[in-house]
Amino acid sequence: MARCLSFLFVLLHVLNLGMVILVMAAPTCGPIKADDRDRIQLALNLEFLEAEFFLNSALGRGLDLIEPRFAQGGPPPIGARKANLDPLTNHIIEEFGYQEVGHLRAILTTIGGFPRPLLNLSRENFAMIFDEAVGYKLHPPFDPYADSINYLLASYAIPYVGLVGYVGTIPYLVNYTSRRLVAGLLGVESGQDAVIRTLLYERAHLIVAPYNMTVADFTGKISNLRNELAMCGIKDEGIIVPIELGAENRTESNILSADANSLSYARTPQEILRIVYGTGNESKPGGFFPEGGNGRIARSFLHKAS
Ligand SMILES: *[C@@H]1O[C@H](CO)[C@@H](O)[C@H](O)[C@H]1NC(C)=O
Ligand SMILES: *[C@@H]1O[C@H](CO)[C@@H](O)[C@H](O)[C@H]1NC(C)=O
Ligand SMILES: *[C@@H]1O[C@H](CO)[C@@H](O)[C@H](O)[C@H]1NC(C)=O
Ligand SMILES: *[C@@H]1O[C@H](CO)[C@@H](O)[C@H](O)[C@H]1NC(C)=O
Ligand SMILES: *[C@@H]1O[C@H](CO)[C@@H](O)[C@H](O)[C@H]1NC(C)=O
Repeated sequence: MARCLSFLFVLLHVLNLGMVILVMAAPTCGPIKADDRDRIQLALNLEFLEAEFFLNSALGRGLDLIEPRFAQGGPPPIGARKANLDPLTNHIIEEFGYQEVGHLRAILTTIGGFPRPLLNLSRENFAMIFDEAVGYKLHPPFDPYADSINYLLASYAIPYVGLVGYVGTIPYLVNYTSRRLVAGLLGVESGQDAVIRTLLYERAHLIVAPYNMTVADFTGKISNLRNELAMCGIKDEGIIVPIELGAENRTESNILSADANSLSYARTPQEILRIVYGTGNESKPGGFFPEGGNGRIARSFLHKAS
């Protein structure tokens, strides 16, 4: 009996270790093999997402009316609409929308593109993301288009993912033309992120009605959700953080999210896809991309057992 128990114990221990190794080995945080064109085309998916979200929210119309050729016949986004924004926020988002049109042009003319992927920009999709972030069903469901603060919180999710993707991409680019392109994209993407975060920081302690949570609480929860989905540690931080995540461990304000040396975090294509699919699985589309992203990298992961 004693031997039997100790065997059982050893067996459990081995199983347990096996599981730990499995859990640690499953998410690939490391780099992938791909050429410059594939890497930049992965980002093209996010540029489409940003262009449609900003243009529709600020203007009530998207790429199909502004630069219809850029969509290359891809389906129109689901649920995109004019947001109820104050004039200042509306101007900012309108400018961001036009900037994304420029980014699309730069990518399409420099390396070539593909049809716009199907995008889910519906209120319901954002509501689902926010429910997951807070860990329960918000009542009423979160509406990104209801007002400026909700819209900024919804936008908090978007350029930052592009930014960390670009930071992760640049070191692997071999061609001068691609590096110059991505450096230029990164600059503006991080500027957009900084503007959104600053506008949120100004209202960090505001209660987001009718929820009993502040703006800062929401940013922390959304950042945590993205860290969980990406499965590669902390690379995303809210606008107010524990002091050990602040710049030089000296401040709780965190207007920009960055590492211990205040350098931008970097993410791999798998991490980006896990986040924007909302599934934590680069092979399982969903979230903003119900049918997955386009381009070789995104398609190569699709429906593959990982
Ligand atoms: C770099 O990429 C550009 C754009 O794809 C291409 O036109 C150029 O030939 C490439 N240069 C080299 C050295 O590969
Ligand atoms: C968009 O997202 C919502 C919320 O998850 C979902 O109910 C809806 O089916 C999605 N639309 C498509 C076409 O995937
Ligand atoms: C709101 O949250 C605060 C702090 O989390 C809590 O003390 C308070 O009781 C809550 N109020 C309501 C109405 O739920
Ligand atoms: C801040 O704290 C982290 C650990 O929490 C440490 O890795 C880092 O070196 C510290 N930075 C400074 C400047 O002391
Ligand atoms: C990821 O999704 C694929 C396709 O649906 C599935 O085969 C695989 O088991 C999933 N991986 C994990 C770790 O859940």
